[in-house]
Amino acid sequence: MKLSKIKELLQAEMLWGDEFLDIEVSNACGADLMSDILADNKVDAILLTGLSHRQIIQTTVMGDFAAIVFVRGKTPSEDVIELAREEKVPLLTTKFPLYESCGILYQAGLGHTQIQEKVSKDASSEDSESPQAMRLTYDIIGNDFNNAGKAAEQAKRVLKQIGIDSSIIRKVSVSAYEAEMNIVIHAHKGQLIFSITPKYIELIAKDQGPGIPDIQKAMQEGYSTAPDRIRELGFGAGMGLPNMNRFSDLFEIDSEVGKGTKVRMVINL
Ligand SMILES: Nc1ncnc2c1ncn2[C@@H]1O[C@H](COP(=O)(O)OP(=O)(O)O)[C@@H](O)[C@H]1O
Ligand SMILES: [Mg+2]
Repeated sequence: MKLSKIKELLQAEMLWGDEFLDIEVSNACGADLMSDILADNKVDAILLTGLSHRQIIQTTVMGDFAAIVFVRGKTPSEDVIELAREEKVPLLTTKFPLYESCGILYQAGLGHTQIQEKVSKDASSEDSESPQAMRLTYDIIGNDFNNAGKAAEQAKRVLKQIGIDSSIIRKVSVSAYEAEMNIVIHAHKGQLIFSITPKYIELIAKDQGPGIPDIQKAMQEGYSTAPDRIRELGFGAGMGLPNMNRFSDLFEIDSEVGKGTKVRMVINL
């Protein structure tokens, strides 16, 4: 969402930084305590706060926030605005209180893990030799059960649209769904990357997470470390990796404990 849209939604006034109205913001943090602001590690986020003293600018710079929206009609003093100008932190002010401001932006879609779909014709794709590869990339967030499965679902829709055979689509989407769920359940965050070429579809699922200490064990049918709360949701049958392996013509898994896991699958067309 553009900063200009945020300004409009919050009926905010720009204190300085008109030239930043075009920047893309993807998240927000609402807080009146510095440690809460600093603990927030979202990227491309704005800060909504009622604090308007000097330290708020420093904190914003440390926390890498893209802009500050002062709530409850707060306006900082001229020297604070000057500091923000030096630090290139655009400042806005809205009459809405913190709670309403956050609610308005949340309702408008800001900060829900938006599935990012980037469709591109990409000659330099990571593992694909084909110059005609179409690539789909989806960001997956760990533990985000509201969006879990959406990446696989969207990719499936694209495969249908471009006329891929339905038996192939099934293999790709089941594998993608299992891979996506593994990131949601077991990792912190990751990506699903599809490269669609005239000869095969390559699916890479890579994540930052705990990694897999014993891959051989993890590959066994029924082996799962999923906790009870995940099992209560119906996951954790220990069939994900075996299914991915079964449905793909080539299956590679690479994992480093404490770092993350990368699964590469190729399904021939
Ligand atoms: N991306 C991942 N990161 C960390 N551990 C994983 C990942 N994927 C799978 N695992 C480990 O491998 C086990 C087996 O995975 P899987 O066959 O998909 O079964 P399930 O997800 O139902 O537990 C998991 O329980 C987990 O311990
Ligand atoms: Mg699984």
